[in-house]
Amino acid sequence: MNTPCHRSAQTADFSQSAQSYKTKGISLQCGDVLQLAQALPPNSIDAVIADPPYCSGAGTAAGTKQDPVNKYCHDGNACGRPTFTGDARDQRSFKYWCTLWLSACRRASKESAYCLSFIDWRQLPIMTDAIQAAGWTWRGVIAWDKGRGSRAPHKGFFRHQCEYIVWATNGKVAKRTDAGPFDGCYHVTVKQKDKHHITGKPTDLMRQLVQIAPERGTILDPFAGSATMGVAAKLEKRNFIGFELSEEYFEIGKQRLQAN
Ligand SMILES: C[S@@+](CC[C@H](N)C(=O)[O-])C[C@H]1O[C@@H](n2cnc3c(N)ncnc32)[C@H](O)[C@@H]1O
Repeated sequence: MNTPCHRSAQTADFSQSAQSYKTKGISLQCGDVLQLAQALPPNSIDAVIADPPYCSGAGTAAGTKQDPVNKYCHDGNACGRPTFTGDARDQRSFKYWCTLWLSACRRASKESAYCLSFIDWRQLPIMTDAIQAAGWTWRGVIAWDKGRGSRAPHKGFFRHQCEYIVWATNGKVAKRTDAGPFDGCYHVTVKQKDKHHITGKPTDLMRQLVQIAPERGTILDPFAGSATMGVAAKLEKRNFIGFELSEEYFEIGKQRLQAN
């Protein structure tokens, strides 16, 4: 069961919420990105790194509306991880919704802040449109190569071996002397023992991505899931703000942050 938190905009003060976890430089809140992002002070975020529901996983509108467990767990969800909501939007509403949350995150971001969003091959054109519609300056697409262990649909097909990370900045790219250039392609395989969400990302991949923020800089992950980004930020000495709609995943994320 996946239970979304029901919180009004008036209760988006994290410090007052039972559905939040806070420790030094790390904050995880349970709720909807569009409400929670409004409560962030402007000019406070160094990097938005987002792994949204892709609203993908099928070639037809009916297929897209299936439960994410059926769409994304090709082992029949042997580990019994919870499902999640928000993954059944049609193409037009997905683009509109992405533009909304990307705009809300930009409002809280510093000048030259980075915005990175994961996406798959089907939804890549929507994400590159939405990121620009939200006012970010689109800079490119990074490949995450999951290796040959990833799903190969049929003989004669190319493997769906990569997911993509659309990257952009809030205006000009800052002149950095402390870090970069960063890799344009990451080869990181998914290890089941490091996967705490049905579409969870590897901690090692996230540890490499958080390098775009300066040490003690603040990373916003608006779709925290099992808080892999939060764990990576903590290990790499970056501050972290995460939002997650599902109470179950909020709890899983909180426990991971406490354990790491
Ligand atoms: C692709 S998963 C993130 C997985 C995460 N990167 C990890 O490694 O565990 C997307 C998450 O966004 C959450 N979500 C969906 N709609 C949301 C919303 N409106 N606001 C906040 N979180 C939302 C889902 O519950 C889901 O856990």
